[in-house]
Amino acid sequence: MCGIIGYIGGKTATPFLIEGLKRMEYRGYDSAGVAVLDAGAIATRRAAGKIARLESALAAAPIAGTTGIGHTRWATHGPPTERNAHPHLSADGTVAVVHNGIIENANALRAALRDAGYEFRSDTDTEVVAHLVQELFEGSLEDTVLAALAQLEGTYGLAVVSSRDPGKIVAARKGSPLLIGIGEDEHFVASDASAILAHTRQVVYLDDGDVAVIERNGYRVLDANAAPLARHVHKIDWDLAAIERGGFAHFMLKEIFEQPQTVENAMRGRLILEDGTSKLGGLNLSHEQLMAIDHIIITACGTSWHSGLIGKLMIEELCRIPVAVEYASEFRYRNPIVSANTLCIVISQSGETADTLAAMREAKRRGARTLGFVNVVGSTIAREDDGGIYLHAGPEIGVASTKAFTSQVVALALFALKLARKRGLSVTRGMEIAQALHALPAQIKEILDRAEQIEHIAEEFKRAPNFLYLGRGVNFPVALEGALKLKEISYIHAEGYPAAEMKHGPIALIDEMMPVVFVAPHDAVFDKVVSNVQEVKARKGNIIAITSRDEAALKGLVDYEFRIPETVDLLMPVLASVPLQLLAYYIAVKRGSNVDQPRNLAKSVTVE
Ligand code: G6P
Repeated sequence: MCGIIGYIGGKTATPFLIEGLKRMEYRGYDSAGVAVLDAGAIATRRAAGKIARLESALAAAPIAGTTGIGHTRWATHGPPTERNAHPHLSADGTVAVVHNGIIENANALRAALRDAGYEFRSDTDTEVVAHLVQELFEGSLEDTVLAALAQLEGTYGLAVVSSRDPGKIVAARKGSPLLIGIGEDEHFVASDASAILAHTRQVVYLDDGDVAVIERNGYRVLDANAAPLARHVHKIDWDLAAIERGGFAHFMLKEIFEQPQTVENAMRGRLILEDGTSKLGGLNLSHEQLMAIDHIIITACGTSWHSGLIGKLMIEELCRIPVAVEYASEFRYRNPIVSANTLCIVISQSGETADTLAAMREAKRRGARTLGFVNVVGSTIAREDDGGIYLHAGPEIGVASTKAFTSQVVALALFALKLARKRGLSVTRGMEIAQALHALPAQIKEILDRAEQIEHIAEEFKRAPNFLYLGRGVNFPVALEGALKLKEISYIHAEGYPAAEMKHGPIALIDEMMPVVFVAPHDAVFDKVVSNVQEVKARKGNIIAITSRDEAALKGLVDYEFRIPETVDLLMPVLASVPLQLLAYYIAVKRGSNVDQPRNLAKSVTVE
């Protein structure tokens, strides 16, 4: 979703701005722009579409200044045109603003500013901020921005520059992430650490309510009354290689192939094989609190919600505690049952998804303890939860989540294992699961070594207009996730269904044109799945089966088969999801889709 970058230093700003915007392309956007203080005035260049178009505009008319802000916009208010692209200028051109989030009282402010004689040139909520800063300008830019913020309702990450007070960028955060990058003789502001990683690893994460004044040789963080605040300097612990493609055709493919390593990283130092349990240092839950949990709510969106469904089955099976899995966007607006013994697990790759964050805050407000299962270190959910588990999957750049998903499932398994062992799971069963977890990285590698088999299946089905994914038990969420992956990047309509439920509706769709993917490893419900395979075959469906053995029962029924290694039933999703990621990837590539930046999608959805 929208990205913010700002640069102030001794060098020409635009190359830094463009590079930062490109590093954030993965988040999803549909227009881009920059504003630079140049020779006492603000110059802007903006373009609809890809950053390459903005670069052409800059090449045709370069800007020389050393202080600037840039933005990639994902349209919310008004279409993705040049006039709606950020930065937005005030009426007199002395103030430029970039903004992530939504100003909820924009209509009222627009009306008041119109009455005061301001003409609006865009459909955005952001433009009101630029005019408001012009209208209120008095003293310094930071004082003026603070006065303007007092009138704003909604969420924002903002960066503002003004020719009336040059030599600084003023940034403000409420509900939309921002960080300051500390360089030598230069400073940055960005909504995403990847944007500045090429220049510094020293960052200060802003908290909600913070206003920052960023100058060439320093920065200050202020509260709403302009009083200075102390903020910790963090060191980012991944490097540039982690956000580059490293020889792979797409980030998504690189991330799929990283999974032996990322799954290993999720378990490093946590798995205790000899006791059949796990050590999780960040839960911040005492033994008594863990024992008192009588109800768990898992809340998340998208792919993370699918891992939550798997987590539910693991926790209920091993710990015998009831678990509800809720879409964060639904949970936040109903009247959920939460008590002091409710644990709320919040799953998020980015740690910034607006609905998930709001759901966590709601659960907290109602008295639940919250645990964040989050990938991005220092993200808002990670900072606001009561405790949690970092996924350690490294930066995930491809919009379609892959390695974060398998790490989430592993983190949920580690948590279920720890809780279960405390609550009576035998050491033998605990050891069996711990051993199975330990074996996963090598098993994923074994699957990846045969990726070309999946590519061959993709070639056969690349023109299919629809797909059905079916699975039972713990593999039903895998079917949902497989279908979601395909939808997201190939734009083929795909549905995931519990295999047996298929006969209550989707069976009507099956004919010789319909590919049906069965997630059918040899588990406790395998025989049942075979009956469902027969039902599809009887209606001439094309069957692709993800299996784990040479199954006599499937002879003559299956058109294409891919074998995965065997593990304990509860961990099958980690292995079964990998070929489905590859299937979606290869089909999308063969159809010519933009795999890493699929249309309309954002990597991190920071608006409701
Ligand atoms: C967006 C992304 C999905 C992701 C979902 C939740 O919709 O496109 O891939 O699963 O957000 O994101 P989170 O960062 O909270 O896991």
